Amino acid sequence: MKMLDASEYPKRREELTKRLGENSAILLASGSEKTRNADTHFRFRVDSDFYYLTGFAEPEAVFLLRPGHDEPSVLFCQDRDPLMEQWEGKRLGPERAPEALKIAKAYSIKELHEKLPALLSGVETLHFPIGRYEWLDQAVGKWQRELKAKERRGPRAPLNWSDVDRVLHSMRQIKSKAEIEQMQAVADISVAAHKAAMSLSRPGIWEYELEAAIMHKFMMHGCQAAAYPSIVAGGENANILHYISNNQVIKDGDLVLIDAGGELDAYAADITRTFPVNGQFTSAQKDIYNIVLQAQLKAIEAIKPGVPYKSYHQAALNVLVDGLISLGMLKGSVEENIKSEAYKRFYMHGTGHYLGMDVHDVGSYVCGKESIEMQVGMAVTVEPGLYIPNDDDIPEAYRGIGIRIEDDIIVTENGTHNLTVAAPKTVEEIESWMA
Ligand code: GLY
Ligand code: MN
Ligand code: MN
Repeated sequence: MKMLDASEYPKRREELTKRLGENSAILLASGSEKTRNADTHFRFRVDSDFYYLTGFAEPEAVFLLRPGHDEPSVLFCQDRDPLMEQWEGKRLGPERAPEALKIAKAYSIKELHEKLPALLSGVETLHFPIGRYEWLDQAVGKWQRELKAKERRGPRAPLNWSDVDRVLHSMRQIKSKAEIEQMQAVADISVAAHKAAMSLSRPGIWEYELEAAIMHKFMMHGCQAAAYPSIVAGGENANILHYISNNQVIKDGDLVLIDAGGELDAYAADITRTFPVNGQFTSAQKDIYNIVLQAQLKAIEAIKPGVPYKSYHQAALNVLVDGLISLGMLKGSVEENIKSEAYKRFYMHGTGHYLGMDVHDVGSYVCGKESIEMQVGMAVTVEPGLYIPNDDDIPEAYRGIGIRIEDDIIVTENGTHNLTVAAPKTVEEIESWMA
């Protein structure tokens, strides 16, 4: 299973240290196990910010980075415990953590409340994920009160609390070479999963059978999970944007929309392909499909460093609206329909989002009121679609057709690199792969 090189994490802490300066600290939590039902838990998935800086994936851990101190990086983690380890698996433990993670100091998580106030003393700005963990919000408040109570005798409480996005998310937004390689690895597995589902497809197959084919590829190649619940939508189910029931049979002549991506060492892929269950597009399906495809290609073309983030949505929208007009489903000009938002009956979502450790990855899309500029190293999805309602005023052949096409794109010096280009995408590529 491909994992990020361990040297990446100390490098990130060094970079963040430069950005934080000497009077700031960052405090992160790894998260806790969540109950699924009764005494069963969901499989634990570590907090992305915490993992980004530590490479440590156990629950019940806290990390503090305080540039300029003797021990600038401090981890609190679960103790090693033979009984618990017998039932739940090995733990790293505070004794081994410094060497394994290249962290200055580690303590038992049991010592968190006793040690943390002193470690925070003198920090002017404390960055932490405000509002993400109720217990952490309360704990930071408690440590603040404890320091305040002692302030007249030396210790000093932080003067400011700042949300982590300011410093950390601007860093996560730009992917390093190693991150792009990791994203390519999970993209490759996810491409293979989509190809496998296309190969298995035939009239009468159940949506969950295709989901199983997808999950099989993810797990066979070392993915820990799907990056988000897979959408496998036959026929009109494709018009439900977050359809995840995946429990219907797909009938001859229908399209199948699959939106699925794996997660590998905490990096996500996010791919959508729409294909005919029987391997052959009808002429009406081709009409709509090729409009979405052209919109997607134009949108990808619109991405390059220095252009506003929103340009690729606008590029896709122009093609989609023009196509809807040419097929008689919208009246008037492209401009009028964009202004009146009449197109939202057929296209009600944006054309993409940042991608990385989180499928809808961190980073702002705007700076004040202005769209942010695309930069080299950003990763985005490009995912236009058309969702034709099954209504009387729609030409019969088009009713109920739902299509989305989604690729994962890295912004490069020269424009873009498409991580998921190998998943069959044109009508010809899909028909020939399925044949
Ligand atoms: N799969 C979620 C999305 O495409 O945004
Ligand atoms: Mn998707
Ligand atoms: Mn997406």
